[in-house]
Amino acid sequence: MSMEVLRSPIMVREALFPQIMRGRSVGLVPTMGALHDGHMAIVRDSVMENDLTVASIFVNPTQFGPGEDMDKYPRDVDGDITRLREAGVDILFMPSAADMYGEGFSTFIDVGPIAARLCGAFRPTHFRGVATVVAKLLNIVTPERAYFGQKDYQQFLILETMARELDMPVDMVICPTIREGDGLAMSSRNAYLSEKERSVAPVLYRALSSAAEALKGAEASPAKAKAMMEDMLRAEPLADEVQYIGCYDPHTLQWLEEFSGSALLAGAIKIGPTRLIDNVLVWK
Ligand code: PAJ
Repeated sequence: MSMEVLRSPIMVREALFPQIMRGRSVGLVPTMGALHDGHMAIVRDSVMENDLTVASIFVNPTQFGPGEDMDKYPRDVDGDITRLREAGVDILFMPSAADMYGEGFSTFIDVGPIAARLCGAFRPTHFRGVATVVAKLLNIVTPERAYFGQKDYQQFLILETMARELDMPVDMVICPTIREGDGLAMSSRNAYLSEKERSVAPVLYRALSSAAEALKGAEASPAKAKAMMEDMLRAEPLADEVQYIGCYDPHTLQWLEEFSGSALLAGAIKIGPTRLIDNVLVWK
């Protein structure tokens, strides 16, 4: 079956309904496009684990705050279509904003306290928009499994909680972060970095991974690991704004007082105008 590109929710339902009735499993990979190897690794997992894979490309207006990069968000529709087709995706769902949010749209998912922490402290309406659009995509596609990346760990935690608490019949799957050779997590936003900024961008992952080693080797408490990361970031003048960095409980995202089993090391920094996030999970 060659890839179909569909724009309306109704067309997606019509294409999938007979397949689902025949017992075929569907995997969903939601994206905002400008696809890189991190996205494609997730797509490959879905293609491998399901009879059919639906990918979506939608730059979702409700998850961008005022003054954020919605209008200049990178786009490469032709490149994306080629990559998804070659990866064996069956349906690409590419709705317009009007298809997803009709006139007077008013219903949103009210995300819990984990959405106010980390990135949520700097992007107060972001996760409400993410959860709402993903709920819509899950309702349109009714997949057996939906795939997300660990790069956006907080996003996954919020979406997994939403699916569980709202009894959505879907298995939410998290896939490892895919990195460039120098450790920088792949991101559509890396395209914004100048050559000089790009060369210092791996500092965030370097800080997170050395703190992870120190925590694992019991050479550092969470407080000390945080101080280590702050020192490493401070040494890089181009990383001039640290929004947050620290060790958190991977389930509640609260500050970790003591490392007693598992920890999420996560941070968000700005290099020039570009905001970068990354995280590392550590187990004892
Ligand atoms: P987007 O940033 O396009 O990411 C789509 C998916 O790819 C997300 O699940 C994200 O975590 C994953 N991803 C991005 N970079 C990755 C990397 N380097 N390694 C592994 N996975 C990576 O996240 C969104 O879009 C949106 O918020 C969305 C969920 C589509 C809702 O609009």
